[in-house]
This record gives sequence, C-alpha cells and structure tokens, in this order.
Amino acid sequence: MSAADLIDVTEDRLARVQALVDPDSFTELGSQARHRVTAFDMQRKRPAGDGVVTGTARIHGRPVGLFAQDPTALGGSLGEMHATKIARILDYAARARTPVVGLLDSGGARIQEGVAALDGYGEIFRRNVALSGRVPQISVVLGPCAGGAVYSPALTDIVIMQRDRAHMFVTGPRVVKAVTFEDVSLADLGGAEVHASASGVAHLVADDAGSALEMTRRVLGYLPSSCWELPPPYAPGDALPMPAIPTDHRVPYDVREVIGGVVDAGSFLELQAAFAANVVVGFARMEGQAVGVVANQPLVLAGCLDINASEKAARFVRLCDAFGLPLVTLVDVPGFLPGTGQEAAGIIRKGAKLLYAFAEAKVPRVTVVLRKAFGGAYIVMNSKSLGADAAFSWPGAELAVMGAEGAVDVIYRRELEADPSRRQEVVDRYRAEAMAPHIPAQRLSIDEVIAPDETRQIVAATLRSLTGALRPGFRHDNLPQ
Ligand code: HXC
Repeated sequence: MSAADLIDVTEDRLARVQALVDPDSFTELGSQARHRVTAFDMQRKRPAGDGVVTGTARIHGRPVGLFAQDPTALGGSLGEMHATKIARILDYAARARTPVVGLLDSGGARIQEGVAALDGYGEIFRRNVALSGRVPQISVVLGPCAGGAVYSPALTDIVIMQRDRAHMFVTGPRVVKAVTFEDVSLADLGGAEVHASASGVAHLVADDAGSALEMTRRVLGYLPSSCWELPPPYAPGDALPMPAIPTDHRVPYDVREVIGGVVDAGSFLELQAAFAANVVVGFARMEGQAVGVVANQPLVLAGCLDINASEKAARFVRLCDAFGLPLVTLVDVPGFLPGTGQEAAGIIRKGAKLLYAFAEAKVPRVTVVLRKAFGGAYIVMNSKSLGADAAFSWPGAELAVMGAEGAVDVIYRRELEADPSRRQEVVDRYRAEAMAPHIPAQRLSIDEVIAPDETRQIVAATLRSLTGALRPGFRHDNLPQ
C-alpha cells in the first residue's frame, strides 16, 4: 500500500495531519473531548475527540492552526463538541495570527444532535467570516462535505478537492430526485470535476490525499501568516525565455507561456484552471517574492471577459490585496463578451466586481498590454486610470475604444457606403492613428513601450522599486464572489 493510500483510508486518525505538517510539529488540543448527548442511545457512542482532530503545528517552519475531521468516528459528523473544537482553533488562529487549514471529510450535521449541530456550523461560519482577509484559510475536502456544511469551505480563501473521494453539494442526489425528478450521481452533482470546471468552487484538484496535502503546503508558501506580515521570501530564480506570440491578432496562443517568460521558472501555480479559462489567475514569484498573476487567455473565447471570468479574477485580486501579493496583469483582451445571455445574467453588475477589486487594491500593481486592449475591458484590466503603478505595452499592441474593423464601420459609415473599396485604407489609417501604443504613451496611459524580451527584467525592477508600497495590515475581507 502506498503512502497516499494509507492517508486515504485514515487507519490512523492522525495520518493526514502528520502528512500535512512539518515532522514532530503537531500539538493536539482537545483529544479527550466527548459529546454529552444521551438521545438516541448516543451515550454508547462517545469517541475521544468527537470526530475531529484539532491542534497547532508548523508548515515550512511557520505556525498554523488546523482541524481534520475523522470519518472513522461517528462518520466525522459535526455535533456541538466537534464544532466547539473547530471554533476554538479558529479563535486560536485569530489571536496567534496564523493560517488555518481544515481537512473536511464528514457526514454533515450530526443528526442526533439536531439544532445544536446546525448552530455549530453557524459558530464556524461566523468565525470564517471574522478571519477573512486577516489570516489565510485553506479548506481541503477529502470526502463528503454536504448540506450547509459546504459554506465553510466557500467562505475560505482556497478550496482543494480530492478527485473521486470529495463531494460537495447543498442538496444530495436523493433530495434532488425527490424535488426535481432528476437522476444524478454524486460525482455529477458535486464531484471535484464539476467544482473545478463548472461551478468554480474548487481552486485545485488532487488525485489523492497525499497530493492534496502537498498542494496545501505549496499554497501556504505563497501566503503570509497573516495580513500583518509579508509573504515569505524564496530563493530568486530566472524566468524561462519569452516566447514569440502571433502578430496576427486573430491567432490564439497560450498566455501561460508568456507568464512563464515573466515569473521565476516553475513558480506559477494556476488556480481554477478549468473554470472561466478565458482568464488565467495564479500565484507565482518574481525574484523570490510572491505575486499574483491575472492574464487574459486568447485560447478561450478569444480572451473576452465574461461573468465567470470577472468574478474569478475579482476574488483573486481581492485575495492578493488582502495578503500583500503584488499584482502582475497581462492584457490581451478584445472586450467583454457580447450577447443577451451575458447582459441578462448581469455582466454589468458582475463585471463591476473586477473593476472594483483592481481599483480598490493597494498592493503594487503592474500591467503589460501584450497584443490588444479594447474598450471597457482595457480599463478594467488594471489600467493606469484605475490606479496601476506602472503600465507597459509591447510595440505591436493595439489599444483603442474598439477594434479597427468595428470602428471604421461607425466613423466612416457614409464614406464606405459610397466607396466600399476604401475599406482597407481607412482600417490601416485607424490602426496607425488611433491604436498604436505610442499614442496612449504620449498621454501617460502607458508608461513605456517595452520589448517582449525585456519584460521580465522591467516588471521585476518595477516591483522592486515598489517595495515601500507593501504595507502589511488589514485592508479588507475576501468576500465570496
Ligand atoms: C450522525 C452520521 C452522519 C450524520 C454519518 N453518520 N453521517 N451520524 N449524523 N450526519 C454515521 C453513520 O450512522 C455511521 O455510524 C457512520 O457515521 C459511518 O457512516 P456510513 O453511512 O456507514 O458511511 P459511508 O457509507 O462511508 O457513507 C458516508 C456518508 C453517509 C455518505 C457521509 O453516512 C451519509 O449520507 N450521511 C448522511 C449525510 C447527510 O445527509 N448529512 C446531513 C447533511 S445536512 P455507525 O454507528 O453505523 O458506524 C447538513 C446541514 C448543515 O449537514 C447545515 C449547516 C448550516
């Protein structure tokens, strides 16, 4: 049996915790806690610890608070004592200003304890909210997490789900069947794939418990212990060579290759990769310092911003701002996704979240326009006017109210009706006179036009020069979006 399998079966109730934390660093608190319930013969089932392991430990040498639900004790179900133990650890972390990691694997509210169990969730949710933006909170879902219980992970900063074992849903397959007559499997309703791609609940998916715990350690490496500290420095690395991107603006490319040419090699950790893939977000490092990267992805929907992309990027920007990670924004955006579907679903209200998040952010903010930046999407993507500290553009980029084809149809409509053969001439003229990056550079909307292969060095130097703008302290929460 592999180490990963051992962790999966939780033969040892401490196995998952030990696999997560630094060796010999775990101090358990409340191992002898037992419920005092007598209803339904519960006095005969009083496992020590009440179905959850709680305590403090170190990860990468830094203190963390943690709780790990134990599915082998009362199904990991949450009763009053179980909830009190989790609430105590959240209070401990608030006072000690340390991250909290929760390993979730539970049958949900302990049915025999009724409303006392439900109130236990309320106590946890209230503390998740109180800690939001103050200390990092990471939820690792290693088994069932059903009913209202799902809202604790949803309130935390990062959700990691174990493929095949983790399930998250507000109402289970049986209730769905009773109410809507729809037959749906656990996996199709709330498996890791669904939450990684369709709902966006899961930031990361791991193949087994061992990799989920390894991912947790990696995520914590980008984050400070609290908003009152800076993220830990790592050894500086070099970037990969900057790839050439297609000059034809209609030809897609993978913006993650450009990210690779900007950040320290191997440091990029993409989050929510399969959800709203038209925008890429993730942690990385520049010269060993943690940063957050937001980039339009021309491979998907031509990099347009839509509702899901706006909400995904908005929450990421707020996460980075809360925990002092400078923002590096790479722009190649033709605009917001047009259509009745997006308008009716609230692209105005939801697109505003991204705009709000960037405008509000106090961390150092650098933008590079790679190929195009049009209209409202140009402004939203961390433009100078929204408060970016520095905005650069590559020489071939186009920045304008809209693309040339659409623009000439508006401003040369009469001329083109009279003489359609002039179309290419006016398109070329518009491109030259209204779209080239030296035009916004003349009025300081772009600070400098820079070559692709000097981008890494210029962004790194800019961030270095902005170190004084990194002022640890509480700024805001990380409200779910
Ligand atoms: C009390 C529970 C329990 C629960 C499991 N157990 N869930 N006890 N309350 N919610 C107990 C079982 O009785 C059993 O006890 C032991 O845990 C193991 O459970 P099994 O069913 O044998 O295990 P398994 O086959 O692995 O199935 C796991 C499971 C299933 C999928 C989680 O137990 C299940 O569906 N449980 C109910 C889930 C649920 O509907 N929960 C309420 C959700 S609503 P013994 O003594 O036989 O070993 C909710 C509201 C939260 O949580 C609201 C917050 C605001």
